[in-house]
Amino acid sequence: MPTPAYDIVIRGGTLATASDVFRADLGIRGETIAAIGQGLPTGASEIDASGKLVLPGGVDAHCHIEQLSGGGLMNADTFETATRSAAFGGTTSVISFAAQHRAKSLATTVSDYAALAKKGAIVDYAFHLMVANPDEQTIATDLRALISAGHRSVKVFMTYDAVQVDDQQLLDVMLAARQAGALVCVHAENHGLLKWMGERLTKRGYVAPKYHAVSHPRAAEVEAFHRLIAFSELLDQPICIFHVSTAEGAKVIREARGRGVKIYAETCPHYLLMTAAELDRPGIEGAKWVCSPPQREAADQEALWQALALGDLQILSSDHAPYRFDESGKLSAGPNPGFKQIANGMPGLEMRLPVLFDAMVSKGKLGLRKFVELTATAPAQIYDLPGKGSLAIGMDADIAIWDAERKVTLADDLHDNTGYNPFAGRTITGWPETVLRRGEIVVEDGALRAAAGSGRLMLRAAGEATKPTGRLSPEFDEGRNFGAKLY
Ligand code: URP
Ligand code: ZN
Ligand code: ZN
Repeated sequence: MPTPAYDIVIRGGTLATASDVFRADLGIRGETIAAIGQGLPTGASEIDASGKLVLPGGVDAHCHIEQLSGGGLMNADTFETATRSAAFGGTTSVISFAAQHRAKSLATTVSDYAALAKKGAIVDYAFHLMVANPDEQTIATDLRALISAGHRSVKVFMTYDAVQVDDQQLLDVMLAARQAGALVCVHAENHGLLKWMGERLTKRGYVAPKYHAVSHPRAAEVEAFHRLIAFSELLDQPICIFHVSTAEGAKVIREARGRGVKIYAETCPHYLLMTAAELDRPGIEGAKWVCSPPQREAADQEALWQALALGDLQILSSDHAPYRFDESGKLSAGPNPGFKQIANGMPGLEMRLPVLFDAMVSKGKLGLRKFVELTATAPAQIYDLPGKGSLAIGMDADIAIWDAERKVTLADDLHDNTGYNPFAGRTITGWPETVLRRGEIVVEDGALRAAAGSGRLMLRAAGEATKPTGRLSPEFDEGRNFGAKLY
Protein backbone atom coordinates (compact mmCIF):
# COMPACT_ATOMS: atom_id res chain seq x y z
CA MET A 1 0.00 0.00 0.00
CA PRO A 2 1.47 3.42 -0.89
CA THR A 3 1.69 5.87 2.01
CA PRO A 4 -1.29 8.23 1.89
CA ALA A 5 -0.39 11.72 0.69
CA TYR A 6 -2.19 13.36 3.60
CA ASP A 7 -3.13 12.52 7.17
CA ILE A 8 -6.61 13.92 6.65
CA VAL A 9 -8.48 15.03 3.55
CA ILE A 10 -11.60 17.16 3.99
CA ARG A 11 -13.34 16.34 0.75
CA GLY A 12 -15.94 18.05 -1.37
CA GLY A 13 -16.73 21.04 0.84
CA THR A 14 -17.17 24.72 0.08
CA LEU A 15 -14.20 26.61 1.51
CA ALA A 16 -14.55 30.22 2.56
CA THR A 17 -11.90 32.77 3.43
CA ALA A 18 -12.19 36.51 3.98
CA SER A 19 -11.73 36.98 0.23
CA ASP A 20 -13.08 33.89 -1.57
CA VAL A 21 -15.69 31.13 -1.51
CA PHE A 22 -14.90 28.04 -3.63
CA ARG A 23 -15.36 24.28 -3.89
CA ALA A 24 -12.19 22.32 -3.06
CA ASP A 25 -10.70 19.46 -1.11
CA LEU A 26 -8.30 20.33 1.69
CA GLY A 27 -5.36 18.09 2.62
CA ILE A 28 -3.75 18.16 6.06
CA ARG A 29 -0.30 16.84 6.87
CA GLY A 30 0.68 16.94 10.53
CA GLU A 31 -0.47 20.23 12.00
CA THR A 32 -0.77 22.26 8.81
CA ILE A 33 -2.73 22.64 5.61
CA ALA A 34 -0.67 20.89 2.93
CA ALA A 35 -2.92 21.22 -0.13
CA ILE A 36 -6.09 22.86 -1.37
CA GLY A 37 -7.33 21.60 -4.72
CA GLN A 38 -9.75 19.49 -6.66
CA GLY A 39 -9.50 15.69 -6.72
CA LEU A 40 -6.79 15.43 -4.02
CA PRO A 41 -5.39 11.91 -3.48
CA THR A 42 -6.75 9.88 -0.59
CA GLY A 43 -5.75 10.74 2.97
CA ALA A 44 -5.09 8.33 5.83
CA SER A 45 -8.49 9.49 6.99
CA GLU A 46 -11.20 11.30 5.09
CA ILE A 47 -13.90 13.71 6.17
CA ASP A 48 -16.85 14.03 3.81
CA ALA A 49 -17.72 17.74 3.69
CA SER A 50 -20.06 17.65 0.69
CA GLY A 51 -22.87 20.13 1.24
CA LYS A 52 -20.92 21.70 4.12
CA LEU A 53 -18.92 24.89 4.61
CA VAL A 54 -15.25 24.57 5.51
CA LEU A 55 -14.16 27.69 7.42
CA PRO A 56 -11.07 28.76 9.35
CA GLY A 57 -11.43 28.07 13.06
CA GLY A 58 -12.60 31.17 14.90
CA VAL A 59 -10.26 33.50 16.74
CA ASP A 60 -11.74 35.05 19.87
CA ALA A 61 -9.50 37.92 20.91
CA HIS A 62 -11.27 38.95 24.13
CA CYS A 63 -12.05 36.30 26.75
CA HIS A 64 -11.67 36.30 30.51
CA ILE A 65 -10.65 32.80 31.50
CA GLU A 66 -9.96 31.46 35.00
CA GLN A 67 -9.67 35.11 35.97
CA LEU A 68 -9.93 36.57 39.43
CA SER A 69 -12.01 39.76 39.12
CA GLY A 70 -10.88 43.03 40.62
CA GLY A 71 -13.43 42.36 43.38
CA GLY A 72 -11.80 39.01 44.19
CA LEU A 73 -14.39 36.78 42.52
CA MET A 74 -13.10 33.82 40.49
CA ASN A 75 -14.95 33.52 37.20
CA ALA A 76 -16.83 30.34 36.41
CA ASP A 77 -14.46 28.76 33.91
CA THR A 78 -11.13 27.03 34.02
CA PHE A 79 -9.00 27.00 30.89
CA GLU A 80 -10.33 23.52 30.27
CA THR A 81 -14.04 24.40 30.47
CA ALA A 82 -13.70 27.70 28.64
CA THR A 83 -11.66 26.35 25.74
CA ARG A 84 -13.84 23.24 25.54
CA SER A 85 -16.83 25.50 25.00
CA ALA A 86 -14.82 27.56 22.51
CA ALA A 87 -14.11 24.41 20.49
CA PHE A 88 -17.78 23.36 20.49
CA GLY A 89 -18.57 26.81 19.11
CA GLY A 90 -16.05 26.54 16.26
CA THR A 91 -13.31 28.67 17.87
CA THR A 92 -9.77 27.33 17.81
CA SER A 93 -7.74 30.27 19.18
CA VAL A 94 -8.38 32.56 22.11
CA ILE A 95 -6.65 35.55 23.62
CA SER A 96 -7.36 35.75 27.32
CA PHE A 97 -5.95 37.95 30.04
CA ALA A 98 -2.99 37.64 32.33
CA ALA A 99 -4.80 39.90 34.77
CA GLN A 100 -2.58 41.69 37.26
CA HIS A 101 -3.85 42.55 40.72
CA ARG A 102 -2.18 45.56 42.30
CA ALA A 103 -0.32 43.56 44.93
CA LYS A 104 1.22 41.15 42.43
CA SER A 105 3.95 41.64 39.85
CA LEU A 106 3.02 41.41 36.20
CA ALA A 107 5.77 38.85 35.57
CA THR A 108 4.39 36.50 38.25
CA THR A 109 0.86 37.11 36.97
CA VAL A 110 1.84 35.95 33.50
CA SER A 111 3.65 32.85 34.70
CA ASP A 112 0.68 31.91 36.91
CA TYR A 113 -1.84 32.23 34.06
CA ALA A 114 0.53 30.44 31.68
CA ALA A 115 0.71 27.48 34.08
CA LEU A 116 -3.10 27.27 34.29
CA ALA A 117 -3.49 27.46 30.52
CA LYS A 118 -0.76 24.89 29.86
CA LYS A 119 -2.60 22.43 32.06
CA GLY A 120 -6.12 23.03 30.79
CA ALA A 121 -6.31 24.64 27.37
CA ILE A 122 -7.80 22.66 24.51
CA VAL A 123 -7.45 25.36 21.85
CA ASP A 124 -4.44 27.58 21.22
CA TYR A 125 -4.10 30.70 23.35
CA ALA A 126 -2.25 33.95 23.81
CA PHE A 127 -2.38 36.56 26.58
CA HIS A 128 -3.14 40.24 26.80
CA LEU A 129 -0.96 41.70 29.58
CA MET A 130 -3.51 43.34 31.87
CA VAL A 131 -1.84 46.10 33.84
CA ALA A 132 -3.50 47.24 37.09
CA ASN A 133 -0.39 48.54 38.83
CA PRO A 134 1.82 50.49 36.44
CA ASP A 135 4.61 51.10 38.94
CA GLU A 136 8.30 51.40 38.10
CA GLN A 137 8.84 47.63 38.15
CA THR A 138 5.91 47.02 35.80
CA ILE A 139 6.67 49.84 33.39
CA ALA A 140 10.45 49.78 33.23
CA THR A 141 11.12 46.07 33.63
CA ASP A 142 8.24 43.61 33.40
CA LEU A 143 6.30 45.11 30.50
CA ARG A 144 9.40 45.48 28.39
CA ALA A 145 10.55 41.90 29.03
CA LEU A 146 7.12 40.32 28.58
CA ILE A 147 6.37 42.21 25.36
CA SER A 148 9.77 41.25 23.93
CA ALA A 149 9.06 37.64 24.91
CA GLY A 150 6.02 37.65 22.58
CA HIS A 151 3.06 38.97 24.59
CA ARG A 152 2.39 41.77 22.13
CA SER A 153 -0.78 43.30 23.55
CA VAL A 154 -1.42 45.21 26.76
CA LYS A 155 -4.83 45.77 28.31
CA VAL A 156 -5.89 48.55 30.65
CA PHE A 157 -9.18 49.57 32.25
CA MET A 158 -10.14 53.25 32.49
CA THR A 159 -12.80 52.24 35.03
CA TYR A 160 -13.44 49.68 37.85
CA ASP A 161 -12.04 50.78 41.24
CA ALA A 162 -9.73 47.82 41.78
CA VAL A 163 -7.99 47.80 38.42
CA GLN A 164 -8.41 51.19 36.71
CA VAL A 165 -5.46 53.30 35.66
CA ASP A 166 -5.63 57.09 35.85
CA ASP A 167 -4.64 59.35 32.96
CA GLN A 168 -0.96 59.62 33.88
CA GLN A 169 -0.72 55.87 34.35
CA LEU A 170 -2.45 55.27 31.04
CA LEU A 171 0.11 57.50 29.35
CA ASP A 172 2.93 55.60 31.09
CA VAL A 173 1.58 52.28 29.84
CA MET A 174 1.06 53.60 26.31
CA LEU A 175 4.59 54.96 26.10
CA ALA A 176 6.07 51.72 27.45
CA ALA A 177 4.07 49.78 24.86
CA ARG A 178 5.32 52.11 22.12
CA GLN A 179 8.91 51.58 23.15
CA ALA A 180 8.60 47.77 23.36
CA GLY A 181 6.22 47.22 20.41
CA ALA A 182 2.77 46.27 21.67
CA LEU A 183 -0.82 47.17 20.89
CA VAL A 184 -2.70 48.81 23.80
CA CYS A 185 -6.24 47.51 24.28
CA VAL A 186 -8.57 49.55 26.45
CA HIS A 187 -11.86 49.27 28.31
CA ALA A 188 -12.78 52.92 27.83
CA GLU A 189 -15.53 54.40 29.98
CA ASN A 190 -15.43 57.53 32.17
CA HIS A 191 -14.91 56.23 35.71
CA GLY A 192 -16.20 59.31 37.58
CA LEU A 193 -19.40 59.45 35.57
CA LEU A 194 -20.17 55.75 36.14
CA LYS A 195 -19.53 56.08 39.89
CA TRP A 196 -21.61 59.22 40.20
CA MET A 197 -24.55 57.74 38.32
CA GLY A 198 -24.30 54.47 40.24
CA GLU A 199 -24.32 56.23 43.59
CA ARG A 200 -27.28 58.50 42.73
CA LEU A 201 -29.34 55.59 41.45
CA THR A 202 -28.53 53.47 44.50
CA LYS A 203 -29.30 56.26 46.99
CA ARG A 204 -32.73 56.65 45.43
CA GLY A 205 -33.44 52.94 45.59
CA TYR A 206 -33.06 52.21 41.88
CA VAL A 207 -31.09 48.99 42.30
CA ALA A 208 -32.76 46.41 40.02
CA PRO A 209 -30.55 44.98 37.24
CA LYS A 210 -32.14 47.24 34.60
CA TYR A 211 -30.63 50.30 36.31
CA HIS A 212 -27.21 48.97 35.41
CA ALA A 213 -27.91 50.23 31.89
CA VAL A 214 -28.89 53.66 33.24
CA SER A 215 -25.70 53.82 35.29
CA HIS A 216 -23.52 53.64 32.15
CA PRO A 217 -24.52 56.74 30.16
CA ARG A 218 -23.52 56.76 26.52
CA ALA A 219 -21.44 59.86 27.28
CA ALA A 220 -19.17 57.73 29.49
CA GLU A 221 -18.09 55.78 26.41
CA VAL A 222 -17.85 58.82 24.16
CA GLU A 223 -15.81 60.88 26.61
CA ALA A 224 -13.36 58.07 27.36
CA PHE A 225 -12.90 57.30 23.65
CA HIS A 226 -12.06 60.97 22.99
CA ARG A 227 -9.56 61.07 25.86
CA LEU A 228 -7.92 57.81 24.91
CA ILE A 229 -7.69 58.83 21.26
CA ALA A 230 -6.11 62.16 22.27
CA PHE A 231 -3.42 60.22 24.16
CA SER A 232 -2.95 57.88 21.22
CA GLU A 233 -2.44 60.86 18.92
CA LEU A 234 -0.02 62.57 21.28
CA LEU A 235 2.17 59.48 21.60
CA ASP A 236 1.48 57.95 18.18
CA GLN A 237 0.66 54.69 19.95
CA PRO A 238 -1.72 52.23 18.23
CA ILE A 239 -4.76 51.26 20.31
CA CYS A 240 -7.57 48.74 20.16
CA ILE A 241 -10.82 49.97 21.71
CA PHE A 242 -12.66 47.08 23.27
CA HIS A 243 -16.40 46.40 23.14
CA VAL A 244 -17.76 49.47 21.35
CA SER A 245 -21.43 49.66 22.30
CA THR A 246 -22.90 52.94 21.02
CA ALA A 247 -23.51 54.65 17.70
CA GLU A 248 -21.73 57.74 19.03
CA GLY A 249 -18.71 55.70 20.10
CA ALA A 250 -18.41 54.18 16.63
CA LYS A 251 -18.62 57.68 15.14
CA VAL A 252 -15.77 58.95 17.32
CA ILE A 253 -13.62 56.06 16.07
CA ARG A 254 -14.59 56.67 12.44
CA GLU A 255 -13.61 60.34 12.67
CA ALA A 256 -10.29 59.61 14.36
CA ARG A 257 -9.40 56.91 11.82
CA GLY A 258 -10.33 59.41 9.11
CA ARG A 259 -7.61 61.77 10.29
CA GLY A 260 -5.06 58.98 10.42
CA VAL A 261 -5.05 57.83 14.06
CA LYS A 262 -4.09 54.16 14.27
CA ILE A 263 -7.13 52.68 15.98
CA TYR A 264 -8.52 49.19 15.88
CA ALA A 265 -11.83 48.41 17.52
CA GLU A 266 -14.10 45.51 18.33
CA THR A 267 -17.71 44.95 19.21
CA CYS A 268 -19.45 41.84 20.53
CA PRO A 269 -22.54 39.76 19.69
CA HIS A 270 -24.47 41.10 22.68
CA TYR A 271 -24.27 44.67 21.36
CA LEU A 272 -25.42 43.57 17.90
CA LEU A 273 -28.13 41.12 18.93
CA MET A 274 -29.41 42.31 22.33
CA THR A 275 -30.72 45.55 23.80
CA ALA A 276 -30.91 46.86 27.37
CA ALA A 277 -34.42 45.34 27.53
CA GLU A 278 -32.70 42.02 28.40
CA LEU A 279 -31.98 43.44 31.85
CA ASP A 280 -35.64 44.15 32.57
CA ARG A 281 -36.87 40.77 33.81
CA PRO A 282 -38.79 39.69 36.88
CA GLY A 283 -36.88 39.66 40.16
CA ILE A 284 -33.13 39.32 39.91
CA GLU A 285 -33.13 37.27 36.67
CA GLY A 286 -31.79 40.26 34.70
CA ALA A 287 -28.48 39.85 36.60
CA LYS A 288 -27.53 37.19 34.06
CA TRP A 289 -27.34 39.88 31.37
CA VAL A 290 -25.39 42.45 33.40
CA CYS A 291 -22.19 43.29 31.54
CA SER A 292 -20.15 46.42 30.90
CA PRO A 293 -20.70 48.42 28.89
CA PRO A 294 -24.36 47.42 28.94
CA GLN A 295 -26.45 46.43 25.96
CA ARG A 296 -27.94 49.53 24.31
CA GLU A 297 -30.74 50.26 21.81
CA ALA A 298 -31.85 49.00 18.39
CA ALA A 299 -30.42 52.14 16.72
CA ASP A 300 -27.01 51.33 18.17
CA GLN A 301 -27.17 47.83 16.72
CA GLU A 302 -27.72 49.28 13.24
CA ALA A 303 -24.90 51.78 13.68
CA LEU A 304 -22.52 49.02 14.83
CA TRP A 305 -23.39 46.81 11.85
CA GLN A 306 -22.70 49.76 9.60
CA ALA A 307 -19.39 50.46 11.33
CA LEU A 308 -18.40 46.82 10.78
CA ALA A 309 -19.42 47.01 7.12
CA LEU A 310 -17.35 50.16 6.61
CA GLY A 311 -14.30 48.81 8.43
CA ASP A 312 -14.45 51.30 11.31
CA LEU A 313 -14.67 48.27 13.60
CA GLN A 314 -12.61 45.27 12.50
CA ILE A 315 -13.09 42.56 15.12
CA LEU A 316 -15.98 40.60 16.63
CA SER A 317 -15.05 39.16 20.03
CA SER A 318 -17.13 37.51 22.73
CA ASP A 319 -15.88 39.30 25.89
CA HIS A 320 -16.53 35.93 27.56
CA ALA A 321 -16.73 36.84 31.26
CA PRO A 322 -18.67 34.02 32.92
CA TYR A 323 -20.18 34.09 36.41
CA ARG A 324 -22.62 31.48 37.61
CA PHE A 325 -26.12 32.61 38.63
CA ASP A 326 -25.51 31.55 42.23
CA GLU A 327 -23.60 32.57 45.35
CA SER A 328 -20.25 31.84 43.66
CA GLY A 329 -20.94 34.47 40.98
CA LYS A 330 -23.79 36.81 40.14
CA LEU A 331 -25.40 36.36 43.59
CA SER A 332 -22.21 36.51 45.66
CA ALA A 333 -23.58 39.53 47.59
CA GLY A 334 -26.79 37.66 48.47
CA PRO A 335 -29.96 36.46 46.75
CA ASN A 336 -31.17 39.95 45.84
CA PRO A 337 -28.15 42.14 45.06
CA GLY A 338 -28.32 45.71 43.82
CA PHE A 339 -26.94 46.19 40.32
CA LYS A 340 -23.69 47.63 41.73
CA GLN A 341 -23.07 44.33 43.53
CA ILE A 342 -23.58 42.07 40.53
CA ALA A 343 -20.45 40.71 38.82
CA ASN A 344 -20.18 42.11 35.30
CA GLY A 345 -20.04 39.75 32.36
CA MET A 346 -21.67 36.94 30.44
CA PRO A 347 -20.46 33.74 28.80
CA GLY A 348 -19.88 34.10 25.05
CA LEU A 349 -17.12 31.81 23.80
CA GLU A 350 -19.41 29.04 22.57
CA MET A 351 -22.24 31.16 21.18
CA ARG A 352 -20.17 33.87 19.47
CA LEU A 353 -19.84 32.13 16.10
CA PRO A 354 -23.24 30.37 15.90
CA VAL A 355 -25.27 33.52 16.67
CA LEU A 356 -23.14 35.63 14.34
CA PHE A 357 -23.30 33.00 11.57
CA ASP A 358 -27.07 33.05 11.89
CA ALA A 359 -27.20 36.85 11.66
CA MET A 360 -24.48 37.38 9.05
CA VAL A 361 -24.71 34.33 6.81
CA SER A 362 -28.16 32.73 7.28
CA LYS A 363 -29.99 36.06 7.58
CA GLY A 364 -27.57 37.78 5.20
CA LYS A 365 -26.16 40.67 7.26
CA LEU A 366 -22.74 41.38 5.67
CA GLY A 367 -22.35 37.80 4.36
CA LEU A 368 -20.04 34.81 4.67
CA ARG A 369 -16.68 36.38 3.75
CA LYS A 370 -17.20 39.24 6.18
CA PHE A 371 -18.17 36.70 8.85
CA VAL A 372 -14.83 34.93 8.33
CA GLU A 373 -12.96 38.22 8.26
CA LEU A 374 -14.41 39.68 11.45
CA THR A 375 -14.36 36.51 13.53
CA ALA A 376 -11.09 34.89 12.41
CA THR A 377 -8.89 36.59 9.82
CA ALA A 378 -8.83 40.15 11.14
CA PRO A 379 -8.23 39.27 14.81
CA ALA A 380 -5.47 36.84 13.78
CA GLN A 381 -3.80 39.54 11.68
CA ILE A 382 -4.25 42.44 14.09
CA TYR A 383 -2.91 40.42 17.02
CA ASP A 384 -0.30 38.65 14.88
CA LEU A 385 -1.25 35.10 15.73
CA PRO A 386 1.14 32.98 13.68
CA GLY A 387 -0.53 30.58 11.21
CA LYS A 388 -4.06 31.46 12.32
CA GLY A 389 -7.24 32.91 10.84
CA SER A 390 -7.42 31.70 7.25
CA LEU A 391 -7.24 28.66 4.98
CA ALA A 392 -4.03 28.56 2.95
CA ILE A 393 -1.21 26.13 2.32
CA GLY A 394 1.26 26.20 5.21
CA MET A 395 -1.18 27.63 7.74
CA ASP A 396 -2.26 25.74 10.83
CA ALA A 397 -5.06 23.28 10.07
CA ASP A 398 -7.53 25.09 12.35
CA ILE A 399 -10.84 24.34 10.69
CA ALA A 400 -14.54 24.34 11.49
CA ILE A 401 -16.89 22.39 9.23
CA TRP A 402 -20.34 23.98 9.30
CA ASP A 403 -23.74 22.69 8.35
CA ALA A 404 -25.21 25.95 7.05
CA GLU A 405 -28.75 24.52 6.98
CA ARG A 406 -28.94 23.02 10.45
CA LYS A 407 -31.53 24.67 12.69
CA VAL A 408 -30.79 24.67 16.41
CA THR A 409 -32.82 26.00 19.32
CA LEU A 410 -30.18 27.13 21.75
CA ALA A 411 -30.01 25.30 25.07
CA ASP A 412 -29.52 26.99 28.43
CA ASP A 413 -26.54 24.84 29.40
CA LEU A 414 -23.39 24.90 27.30
CA HIS A 415 -19.98 23.25 27.48
CA ASP A 416 -18.59 25.97 29.73
CA ASN A 417 -19.16 26.08 33.46
CA THR A 418 -21.54 29.05 33.66
CA GLY A 419 -24.77 27.10 33.86
CA TYR A 420 -26.77 29.48 31.68
CA ASN A 421 -26.72 30.77 28.13
CA PRO A 422 -27.76 34.38 27.54
CA PHE A 423 -28.92 33.42 24.03
CA ALA A 424 -30.97 30.39 25.19
CA GLY A 425 -34.30 29.81 23.48
CA ARG A 426 -33.38 31.49 20.19
CA THR A 427 -33.58 29.31 17.09
CA ILE A 428 -30.66 29.86 14.75
CA THR A 429 -29.58 28.39 11.43
CA GLY A 430 -26.03 27.10 10.91
CA TRP A 431 -23.89 25.02 13.23
CA PRO A 432 -20.19 24.06 13.51
CA GLU A 433 -20.19 20.25 13.52
CA THR A 434 -16.58 19.15 13.21
CA VAL A 435 -13.69 21.22 14.52
CA LEU A 436 -9.96 20.64 14.04
CA ARG A 437 -7.10 22.41 15.81
CA ARG A 438 -3.65 22.05 14.21
CA GLY A 439 -4.84 18.97 12.35
CA GLU A 440 -6.29 17.24 15.39
CA ILE A 441 -10.03 16.66 15.60
CA VAL A 442 -11.22 18.39 18.76
CA VAL A 443 -15.00 18.14 18.27
CA GLU A 444 -16.85 15.52 16.22
CA ASP A 445 -20.38 14.09 16.42
CA GLY A 446 -21.16 16.29 19.40
CA ALA A 447 -18.25 14.91 21.44
CA LEU A 448 -14.92 16.32 22.60
CA ARG A 449 -11.95 14.39 21.16
CA ALA A 450 -8.95 16.41 22.36
CA ALA A 451 -7.33 16.40 25.77
CA ALA A 452 -6.97 19.20 28.29
CA GLY A 453 -3.51 20.70 27.84
CA SER A 454 -3.36 20.04 24.09
CA GLY A 455 -3.73 23.76 23.34
CA ARG A 456 -0.52 25.69 22.79
CA LEU A 457 0.73 29.13 23.82
CA MET A 458 1.07 31.49 20.86
CA LEU A 459 3.92 33.97 21.16
CA ARG A 460 3.84 36.83 18.75
CA ALA A 461 6.31 38.96 16.84
CA ALA A 462 5.91 42.74 16.63
CA GLY A 463 3.62 43.13 13.65
CA GLU A 464 1.86 45.76 11.62
CA ALA A 465 -0.69 46.68 14.29
CA THR A 466 1.94 47.38 16.95
CA LYS A 467 3.91 49.80 14.76
CA PRO A 468 3.43 53.54 15.32
CA THR A 469 2.54 55.52 12.20
CA GLY A 470 5.75 57.51 12.49
CA ARG A 471 3.85 60.74 13.10
CA LEU A 472 4.63 61.45 16.74
CA SER A 473 2.92 64.67 17.82
CA PRO A 474 5.28 67.67 17.52
CA GLU A 475 4.20 68.63 21.04
CA PHE A 476 5.78 65.45 22.35
CA ASP A 477 8.54 64.79 19.90
CA GLU A 478 11.99 65.31 21.34
CA GLY A 479 13.66 68.55 20.28
CA ARG A 480 10.63 70.20 18.79
CA ASN A 481 9.00 71.25 22.03
CA PHE A 482 11.59 73.97 22.80
CA GLY A 483 14.15 71.22 23.14
CA ALA A 484 12.36 69.39 25.96
CA LYS A 485 13.32 65.72 25.96
CA LEU A 486 10.10 63.86 26.57
CA TYR A 487 10.83 60.71 24.68
O1 URP B 1 -18.90 43.04 31.79
C1 URP B 1 -17.87 42.59 31.39
N1 URP B 1 -17.61 42.51 30.12
N2 URP B 1 -16.97 42.17 32.25
C2 URP B 1 -15.71 41.69 31.92
C3 URP B 1 -14.67 42.70 32.10
C4 URP B 1 -14.68 43.70 31.00
O2 URP B 1 -15.15 44.81 31.25
O3 URP B 1 -14.24 43.46 29.89
ZN1 ZN C 1 -14.14 45.58 29.33
ZN1 ZN D 1 -13.66 41.99 28.87
